[in-house]
Amino acid sequence: MLFEPYKLEQLQLNNRIVMPPMTRARSAVGEVATELMAEYYAQRASAGLIISEGTQISRQGQGYAWTPGIYTPEQIKGWKTVTDAVHKAGGKMFAQLWHVGRISHTSLQENGEAPVAPSAILAKGVKVYVPKQNADAQSGQGEMVQHSMPRELTIPEIQQIIQTYAQAAKNAIAAGFDGVELHAANGYLLEQFTDSQTNLRTDEYGGTLEKRLRFLKEVTTAVSEAIGSHRVGVRQAPLTTQMGAVDDNPEETYIAAARMLNEIGVAYIHIAEADWEDAPVMAPAFKEAYREAFKGTLIYSGKYSRERAHEALKNGWADLIGFGRPFIANPDLPYRLENGLPLNAPIIEKFFGAGPEGYTDYPTYHGSKMAV
Ligand SMILES: Cc1cc2nc3c(=O)[nH]c(=O)nc-3n(C[C@H](O)[C@H](O)[C@H](O)COP(=O)(O)O)c2cc1C
Repeated sequence: MLFEPYKLEQLQLNNRIVMPPMTRARSAVGEVATELMAEYYAQRASAGLIISEGTQISRQGQGYAWTPGIYTPEQIKGWKTVTDAVHKAGGKMFAQLWHVGRISHTSLQENGEAPVAPSAILAKGVKVYVPKQNADAQSGQGEMVQHSMPRELTIPEIQQIIQTYAQAAKNAIAAGFDGVELHAANGYLLEQFTDSQTNLRTDEYGGTLEKRLRFLKEVTTAVSEAIGSHRVGVRQAPLTTQMGAVDDNPEETYIAAARMLNEIGVAYIHIAEADWEDAPVMAPAFKEAYREAFKGTLIYSGKYSRERAHEALKNGWADLIGFGRPFIANPDLPYRLENGLPLNAPIIEKFFGAGPEGYTDYPTYHGSKMAV
């Protein structure tokens, strides 16, 4: 099943294997996608669907050094090189639209301003990746530092950010992407509004569950109106507590969100289960509730093997399966999975930072660097 084609709304995917979004911190000056990034993604175009690394919708939405953006003409042009290369190699690609909210640092923000959030709460011990002090800005040398104390967004600012998402979605289409995925997972802005412990607002954007979901609803609606709901997916991480984003009742919150997204009619929900080590397993009943609430495509990612993937498809929980770290290390992953071949191990030290090492130089099973 994993190797069979799949129709994602109007998009024909060659198989049910997804390369999920993975930040690699290799963009050029101006947060522009590069030729090297085009090579990296094109090498992996045998995935049914590639979702780009988190791509900020604005300078304010950036939380880590060298992550690419999609809000300037140069950035759109940079991404066009990537999507052209992926399409030429027979792949399909969505852009993951990202606003980190509070998970940023004053050194990345315009005029050294504080990052923004639904509420002014610091996630203690939560770190972001910034250029190393005194290092050349393009050296790719970074360090992890505590994120900065955020300030609370005003309502006009919230409404502005909703428009910025819609514009970024239009930019993504102009850059040749087949659609966009809203990053509403892993403790970033959309999840900060959704989760009960990061949103302490008492206005129309917080307080009750319905009000906590309002920002997600308005962003998704605006983006759907901008480019069509058939080209919009949403990523959620119901049980991870990454970046200090904790919800008191994840099942209630996320199933309500799934129902809301079903009404808007988005193409898919992409669920991040386990990521690093910190997520509890989602019980089968939770997965069945997702199916019940959402009629579109469901993608699951998080420590999947070929066997677990087949099981999830067979049980009817998932339609598509994301393989993250295995795709970093294996450009020919679908071929290896289909033929039961061993996998290269990823080099963790090279996940973030400059250059082709640990990025475009992983060999295919047949021993060659993958030509595109
Ligand atoms: C280096 C790295 C960067 C990641 N960056 C992102 C990101 O930008 N956006 C996102 O939603 N998830 C991100 N993730 C999470 C992955 O999309 C995926 O959910 C996770 O790696 C679990 O899948 P795996 O066990 O197959 O690797 C990242 C993961 C890794 C390893």
